[in-house]
Amino acid sequence: MRLDKFLCDTTDLTRSLAKKALHRGEVTVDGVVIKNPATQVGEGHDVRWLDESLVLSGNRYLMLYKPLGVECTTRPDQYPTVLELIDLPNVGRLHPVGRLDVDTTGILLLTDDGKWSHRVTSPRKACPKVYEVTLASPLQAKDADAARRRFAEGIQLDGEERPTQPAEFEWLSPARARVTVTEGRYHQVRRMVAALGNRVEALHRTSIGPLALDPDLAPGECRHLRPDEVAFFLE
Ligand code: URA
Repeated sequence: MRLDKFLCDTTDLTRSLAKKALHRGEVTVDGVVIKNPATQVGEGHDVRWLDESLVLSGNRYLMLYKPLGVECTTRPDQYPTVLELIDLPNVGRLHPVGRLDVDTTGILLLTDDGKWSHRVTSPRKACPKVYEVTLASPLQAKDADAARRRFAEGIQLDGEERPTQPAEFEWLSPARARVTVTEGRYHQVRRMVAALGNRVEALHRTSIGPLALDPDLAPGECRHLRPDEVAFFLE
C-alpha cells in the first residue's frame, strides 16, 4: 500500500498530516528517510515515524525453516529463540504454533493470531504433520513392517494415559523413514521410535497439513504465508 495510507492506518495522522510528516523527513522505511507519499510499503518493511515502529493491526502468519539449536519458546532459556531469527517489527507479538525440539529442523509456523494457532494445533482437527526421520539403527524389511503396524495401531508411551492415535511409518531406506502423526505430544516421534527399540538420530518436519516447507527457504529464513495458505486451516 502507499506509504501515506500506511501512516494513516497505523497512527492517528490524517492523510494531509501524514504527508507533512513525510515532507519533514520524520518517516523512515528500512532505515532510510522517505518523503514520497506514493512509495509502496507492506508487511516486510520496517516503517518508523519519529523512530517509533509502526505495524498494521492485521494479524501476521509466517512459515520459518527452523534450524538446529534454537528453541520454540518466546523467552530465551539455554538457546536462542526462534523469534531472534525473525527480522520484523514487534516480533515479540508472535508465537510459535506448536513446538519443535531444539534438535529438530523444518517447517514451523508463527503467528499473533491465537485463534488460528489453536485451529492448527487443536487435537480435534487432527492436522497431519510429516517428519523425515534418520534412525540410529538401520532396519531390516521385517522390522520396518513391524514398525509400520505398531505406528498404525497406536503406541502406549511411558507416563501417558492413552496410546497414540494411528500414525504412519513409511520405510524409505534402511536408516530413513517418513512418519506422519496427527497429534503433538511431547517428543512424540522420538518416543514412538524409542518404543520400537531404536533412536532418532535426526528429525526434520516437512509439512503441516497441506503446507509443505517452502524449498526457497534456507535454514533460519522465513516468509509470510499467502492468504490462501492461512485459509487452509480455517476450513
Ligand atoms: N516429535 C518429536 O519427538 N520432536 C519434535 O520436535 C517434533 C515431533
